[in-house]
Amino acid sequence: MASSTNVPSFSSLSLFLITFLLAKPSPTWSLSTDFYKNSCPGALSAIKQTIDSALAKERRMGASLLRLHFHDCFVNGCDGSILLDNTSTIDSEKFANANNNSARGFNVVDDIKAAVDKVCGGPVVSCADILAVAARDSVVAVLLGRRDSRTANRMAANNDIPAPTMNLSALITSFKNVGLDSKDLVALGGGHTLGFARCTSFRDRAYNDTNIDPAFVKALRGSCPRRGGDNRLQSLDQTPAKFDVNYFKDLVGLKGLLHSDQQLFSGGLTDAIVKRYSDDYGAFAADFVKSMVRMGNISPLTGGQGEVRKNCRRIN
Ligand code: HEM
Ligand SMILES: *[C@@H]1O[C@H](CO)[C@@H](O)[C@H](O)[C@H]1NC(C)=O
Ligand SMILES: *[C@@H]1O[C@H](CO)[C@@H](O)[C@H](O)[C@H]1NC(C)=O
Ligand SMILES: *[C@@H]1O[C@H](CO)[C@@H](O)[C@H](O)[C@H]1NC(C)=O
Ligand SMILES: *[C@@H]1O[C@H](CO)[C@@H](O)[C@H](O)[C@H]1NC(C)=O
Repeated sequence: MASSTNVPSFSSLSLFLITFLLAKPSPTWSLSTDFYKNSCPGALSAIKQTIDSALAKERRMGASLLRLHFHDCFVNGCDGSILLDNTSTIDSEKFANANNNSARGFNVVDDIKAAVDKVCGGPVVSCADILAVAARDSVVAVLLGRRDSRTANRMAANNDIPAPTMNLSALITSFKNVGLDSKDLVALGGGHTLGFARCTSFRDRAYNDTNIDPAFVKALRGSCPRRGGDNRLQSLDQTPAKFDVNYFKDLVGLKGLLHSDQQLFSGGLTDAIVKRYSDDYGAFAADFVKSMVRMGNISPLTGGQGEVRKNCRRIN
């Protein structure tokens, strides 16, 4: 990310990732960093430009776009299904529990799509890849070559996106269901170093949890009443615009915002990983990149599967 934006740059991470990827030749239809090199060489910079201007307007947008990619990938794979609007045949995932009144950034995705289609002279870059690049431009490098779904699945979104009320074993199961392990869970959970949650997402934690710092719980109750104020925002760590290890430091200090966050440091097997990340940015950053690539590889549509949508909100 350019230093003109509010979300920090990770060029060293990108460099690391590119080196890591170039080490192996890719089999047919696998994702790659240079998927659009010939079909539309200007694609990635057009995407980045639009994201940079969105981030300059609102720095939280990076967090919101990163989360869209996560919610896309956990439901039938990274296929852009989260972007489809409701129609008579599409039961939009936008209304699934984890997304309703919460998932945001859809207009920015539309802006990116318009900009990239203009540069490419048509729909070359998939909506699923736009979400991945947006996550990348918000944080780290990713692989490309996904195609877009022709369906959405609100029921699957309700079942497959983990909930903030979950305990550690439920979180581990939820990640295991998409082929990710408990180290991926902790590394990707570090995505909560960015962005905000609504009162409705952490109210139970503020009133029912006991493994919470006393001063922190007092502050939370101040900003999130027992009843009402559902949409009041609280940052997911102390520094919501910085990609750093404060999320993990907060967990070690029993100041995780969501019940699910604190579960990662609550006497279980993941405590050691949280502790390690909390004082080793390099270890966290390297593992985050690896786990982002693993998440971005969850059953993508490739080759002749699916389509490249003309409008991210509708099937062609
Ligand atoms: C481990 C299971 C996870 C649970 C239970 C969870 C749950 C949540 C919840 C409840 C919110 C607040 C939503 C709201 O109140 O509107 C949130 C926000 C967010 N999540 Fe997660 N999440 C998880 C994993 C992840 C992962 C893997 C990523 C990305 C790598 C991620 C990225 C984000 C970001 C960036 C935000 C802030 C979005 C914004 O400010 O618009 N989360 N998450
Ligand atoms: C979405 O469309 C389906 C089918 O028309 C309908 O049953 C559902 O209630 C709609 N959902 C919303 C939130 O509009
Ligand atoms: C989504 O949220 C609205 C309130 O903004 C609510 O009326 C609606 O029932 C919710 N939809 C679903 C499917 O939960
Ligand atoms: C975790 O939650 C699941 C589902 O709610 C429950 O069945 C299980 O007993 C819980 N496990 C622990 C260790 O509390
Ligand atoms: C806390 O736990 C109680 C008892 O299990 C439950 O009734 C309540 O809804 C929970 N949440 C809050 C915010 O009090």
